[in-house]
Amino acid sequence: MTIKDIAELAGVSVSTVSKIINGKDQNIKKQTRERVLDIVKRYNYTPYAFIKNMERGRSFLLGLILDAGDADGAFTNRFIKTANTHGYQVALCRNETPEDELKHIASLCKNGVDGVAWRPFSDDSRAHEAHFRKNRIVCATLPAPGEDGGIDYADAGFTAAQLLVEQKHTGIGYIGDESRYSELYLQGIRRYLFESNIPFREDEQVYPMQANLFGWIQQAKLTALICASEAAALRIYDMARIQHCQIPEELSIVCITGKNAGETLYPGVTNLAVPYGAYGQYIAEKLIAQIEATGEPACAFVCEPLRRDGNSVAPPKSPDKNILVVGSINIDVMVQVTSPPQMGAVITAEHCVSLPGGKGMNQSVAVAKLGASSALIGKVGRDYDSIQVYDCLHEHGVNTRGVSADRKRDTGKAYIYVQRDGESSIVIYPGANYLLTTHDIEAQKELFGNARFCLLQTEIPMDAVCFAAELAKAEGALTMLKPSMAEALPDELYRKIDYFMPNAQEASLLSGEAEPEKQAAFFLKKGVGAVVITLGHVGCYWRSSGSDGRYFPAYEFKAVDTTGGADAFIAAFAVKLADGETAERAIEYAMCAAGFAVSRQGTVPAMIDKTTLELYMRNA
Ligand code: RIB
Repeated sequence: MTIKDIAELAGVSVSTVSKIINGKDQNIKKQTRERVLDIVKRYNYTPYAFIKNMERGRSFLLGLILDAGDADGAFTNRFIKTANTHGYQVALCRNETPEDELKHIASLCKNGVDGVAWRPFSDDSRAHEAHFRKNRIVCATLPAPGEDGGIDYADAGFTAAQLLVEQKHTGIGYIGDESRYSELYLQGIRRYLFESNIPFREDEQVYPMQANLFGWIQQAKLTALICASEAAALRIYDMARIQHCQIPEELSIVCITGKNAGETLYPGVTNLAVPYGAYGQYIAEKLIAQIEATGEPACAFVCEPLRRDGNSVAPPKSPDKNILVVGSINIDVMVQVTSPPQMGAVITAEHCVSLPGGKGMNQSVAVAKLGASSALIGKVGRDYDSIQVYDCLHEHGVNTRGVSADRKRDTGKAYIYVQRDGESSIVIYPGANYLLTTHDIEAQKELFGNARFCLLQTEIPMDAVCFAAELAKAEGALTMLKPSMAEALPDELYRKIDYFMPNAQEASLLSGEAEPEKQAAFFLKKGVGAVVITLGHVGCYWRSSGSDGRYFPAYEFKAVDTTGGADAFIAAFAVKLADGETAERAIEYAMCAAGFAVSRQGTVPAMIDKTTLELYMRNA
C-alpha cells in the first residue's frame, strides 16, 4: 500500500494525503481529513519511510506512562484494546524512579508518538510536560489517585465497609498494601464506619504487617476483612485453609480488585470490582479524540457504581447459640448382620459401608444440621480417612479449627455390627482420638469463650475430658456429658457437668443401680446439674436438681439402625436449650430427632435437618 493507493481510495490528491499524515492539514476540510485517516488506519499504512526525514508526522503510536505502583492491569489492557480498535499501537512504560520517567518521555518524543497518557511520578515531574508540547505530542495527564476526574478509590473502601456492616459485621479489619490506593480505601472505610457510629480502632483493626495474621484476627475479634489486593486476599485464604477456618462462614473477606463483576476470585471471597477497565477505555478515547481533533468524548468519565460479586458475606452467628463439641472422630465401618459374630464362627454380612462417625463428629454435624453454629475439637490421623472427615465436616458447615491431625496414629475406627432389629454392637479402635491432649484443647480457648454449650463424651482421654469441662465452666459455657466406654468417672468431673446423659446401660454401670430414678438420684448427688437417661424405644427419664423426675415417651419410628440415636438426641437437646426453650420442650424435640436418626442407616447421614424435623413435629 503506497501513498498513491491511499489517495486513490480516498478520492483526493497525493499531496492532500501527505499534508494530512504530516499534520499540515489546517486548510483541509474535516470530513476529508477523517476519510483519509480512516483509510490510512484501515489499511494499516505506516508512513515511516515517507516521513522519516520530515519534521513531524503521524505515527499512530501512543505512549502510556504509568508507575510501577499502578497495578491496575484492567486499566492498561482496556487502554491498549481501545487504542488498537482506533488503529493505534501503544508503547507501555513503567516508572520505578523519576529518572525512568524522564528517559521514557525522551524515548517517546524521539519515536514521534502521536499522544501520551501519563500519570506524573510526582508534582515536580509535571514540568516535563514541556517536552511533549515542544514535540507537538498530545498529552492526557491522569489525575493522581484521590484527585477529581479519576476513579474514586475512597468510595471503594466506603462500599466494602457498607457491605459488611449491612451483613451485621462489627469487627471489621483492613489489610492494606504498598499501592497508592491503599490509604484511599482506608479513608473510605473510616468514613463509612464513622458515619455509622461503629468504632474503628485503627491501631488494632488495620493489619500490622509484622503480626501473626490469625493471632491478630482473633485478638482483635474480627469477623470480616477488607483486602486492598488480591495478593492479600490469597494469603488469608491460604492461611484460613491451614487453620481449617471457613470462608465466609467464620471469616468474611471482601477484596477490592480490578476484576470484572462475574469473575470469581476465590470461592467464598467477595469481589468488589473497581472500574479500572472503563477508565482505561475513557482515557484512550479522550486522547485519540484530541489527537484527531474530533473534540472530547461525549461525556466525562463517571465512576460506575462499584459492583460486588462472588459470594454473600455471612456474619458468624450469635455466640449465644454456638455449640462446641469436644470428642471422638472415627471412620465407622458398618456391617449389616443377622446377629453379631460369635467367637470362632464366620458369618456373612448382608451389607457394608464405611463413613465418618464418632460421637464428637456425629454430634457436631447434628448440631449444624439443626441450624446452630457448630465447632468441633478432636484429633485425626494424617491419613486418607482424615480427608473424608474434614470434607464431611466442611460440607456440613462445622468449624474445624479445633480438629488437628497427627501422624503418630491413624484416624479412629468403629466396627459396627447392626442387626436386623436395628440394635448394634461396636468395637472401637481409638487411634488418634487418644492423642488429643489438654494442650490441644487449651489452644482452642477462644472456641470455649464463644460457646453457649460444650458437649463432651468419654471416647477421648479422660484428662482431656476433665480439662475441657473445666475450661468450659471457666469460660461460661454449659456442659453436657455422655459417658461411654467408661467404668467410672472422676468425682470432680461430675461436679462440672450441667447435663449428664447416659443410656440405661451406662447409667447402671456407673451408679450400680437398676432403676432410672435411683440412677438419677445417684448422679445428682455426685454433683451434676440435671440427668437425662436415654432408654431407647421406651423414651427417656429426666430429672434436675430440685425437681421431680419425669419419663418422656419415644416417638414411634421403626428402628433400622440405633447407632448414633443418642448423639442425635444430645445435639437436638442442646440446640433447643440454646434457643432458650425449657428442658421439657427441648427433650420433646430431641426425642423426635433421635427417632429420625434410628429410622435411618448410619450416623452422620442419619442426622435430621431442622426444616424436616420441625415440619414433622408440627404435623405429628
Ligand atoms: O454414638 C455412635 C458412635 O459411637 C459411632 O459413630 C461410633 O464411631 C462410636 O463412636
